Amino acid sequence: MRQTTIFIFLLIAIRTIAQTPLFIPDTLTGPNYNLTMHKDSVQFFSGMISQTYAFNANHYLGPTLILNNGTNVNITVNNQIGDTTTIHWHGLHVPAKWDGGPHSPILNNASWNPQFTVMNDAATYWYHPHLDMKTAVQAIKGAAGLIIVRDSAEATLTLPRKYGIDDFPIIVQCQQYDSLNQAMQLGMQDSTLLVNGTRANNSDSTYLDVPAQVIRLRLLNASGERAFNFGFTSPLHFYQIATDGGLLDLPHDTTRIRIAPGERAEILLNLNGMNGQTFYLMSYGAELPMGIQGGPTMPMSGGPPMDSPLNGINFNILKFNVVPPTTNPVTTIPSTLIANNPYQENQVNAYRQINFTADNDTVMDGPFYFNDSTFDMMRIDYVIPLNSVEVWTLVNKTMVAHPFHLHDEYFYILDRNGISATPEEQGKKDVILVPPYDSVRFITKFTDFADTVVPYMYHCHILMHEDAGMMGQFMVSPSAVGIKELSKNISEFFIYPNPASTILNIHHASYTPNETLLITDLLGAVVYKEKLCGIDNTISISTWGAGIYFYCLTPALSNGEGVSVRGKFVVQK
Ligand code: C2O
Ligand code: CU
Ligand code: CU
Repeated sequence: MRQTTIFIFLLIAIRTIAQTPLFIPDTLTGPNYNLTMHKDSVQFFSGMISQTYAFNANHYLGPTLILNNGTNVNITVNNQIGDTTTIHWHGLHVPAKWDGGPHSPILNNASWNPQFTVMNDAATYWYHPHLDMKTAVQAIKGAAGLIIVRDSAEATLTLPRKYGIDDFPIIVQCQQYDSLNQAMQLGMQDSTLLVNGTRANNSDSTYLDVPAQVIRLRLLNASGERAFNFGFTSPLHFYQIATDGGLLDLPHDTTRIRIAPGERAEILLNLNGMNGQTFYLMSYGAELPMGIQGGPTMPMSGGPPMDSPLNGINFNILKFNVVPPTTNPVTTIPSTLIANNPYQENQVNAYRQINFTADNDTVMDGPFYFNDSTFDMMRIDYVIPLNSVEVWTLVNKTMVAHPFHLHDEYFYILDRNGISATPEEQGKKDVILVPPYDSVRFITKFTDFADTVVPYMYHCHILMHEDAGMMGQFMVSPSAVGIKELSKNISEFFIYPNPASTILNIHHASYTPNETLLITDLLGAVVYKEKLCGIDNTISISTWGAGIYFYCLTPALSNGEGVSVRGKFVVQK
């Protein structure tokens, strides 16, 4: 018994010293996708195991979902983590009720069944939890995965697209673990690099064999905070072919690409004739300015330490060993890709400005706000008419950079500090890094999905900033005057008791006839839709199942303007 234990210890020791191949998540293809999110653990360090979250057969992260543009998908997410969660399809253009934001919780032991048509262009997207105030703690434990969307335009190009053979997922996370080897939610001393959940300790420990031909890397920064200034061992250059939401017009020949949390890029490397050579994916952090997380540590007076040993230095992330080419290799870089047609400023219906703010101008660790207000699930920050073409100006008035993310739609960058978008930012984007005191303008259009009940989010993708309230929400309204939020008057509207079990009382002091109360369950199914009959109303809920319900009170006023009040309550049995 004792000898066996020692033997196992030795085996683990040998395994940690030996080089580790990069883990490549398996793939799931449609139309039906089953994701079971569960608790797991991984031996990242010697000594204590690290508690993780994962999907399906994985111990960390989840399978890569392959989606085809124009097809219908049917996803079942089953939650087995012992806590409530949500799953958001980052970058996908889907109806708000299937977007998986904080308004769509999945209770422990429950399932959620989004069904939608894939409308996005071929590119790399991802999925991760989005529970209010708990995105960081769940995502850094490994609850995330990649999504690859394919479409006919991409299919006609000569590009590597054999998953795991010449087309590789590269999910990079930089995290902090505590003395008990557990991931830390506020890990600003992040120094543990994980690539596809494989621990990379800046040495030769993780490697990927790649064929001596053109290969494609799908880079995702799934870190809580750190931005990477990706490049390779000099003098290797590469070609960026895609931004967050689609291919560029032309491959962009470069040696660096800065990717902030939430952002993705696809790149091609031409390894023809390099059989037998090795090189590294690196982050050239020494080239990042102070203020961008990953650049030099800011001198701090008070507050938590942010002095990760990786700040402001260049470091290796992943080793590549070049091996003989495959049969039928791709050996050339295409000269053109697709034709992007950015929206034009002369089509604009509305301009909005979002200032990134803090309590004062010495704050480096938050909380941060949008326009001085913190996230509130009951407040709709913008009601946006369907098909509105909009220019949003993001002005960072804080000392640190923030990657701004918009749900529902991709956008095109117009300019940064008045200077037109650079080639690497000319494609479709859904995250944009705004360095301190910079101002970025983007243009977008809110198409397809009007919904007067469930809002979409926009937020900082530094997960601790998001969880601390650097988030807002918008609704896409079917008409220009469709909805007006009554959050200031919310106290004159009550639903009680909460939690409720047999009876639900609805009190609306300024009741007007024709007000309709709509109640939906977690899956978006309508469980109740009736007109209120007066200021005080009682409905029987004795047959309703336990869980979270959402309500929406929508009067149709004589002037045609709808006003809605939204919220949620819990039924306990
Ligand atoms: Cu990647 Cu709202 O999230
Ligand atoms: Cu998103
Ligand atoms: Cu932020």
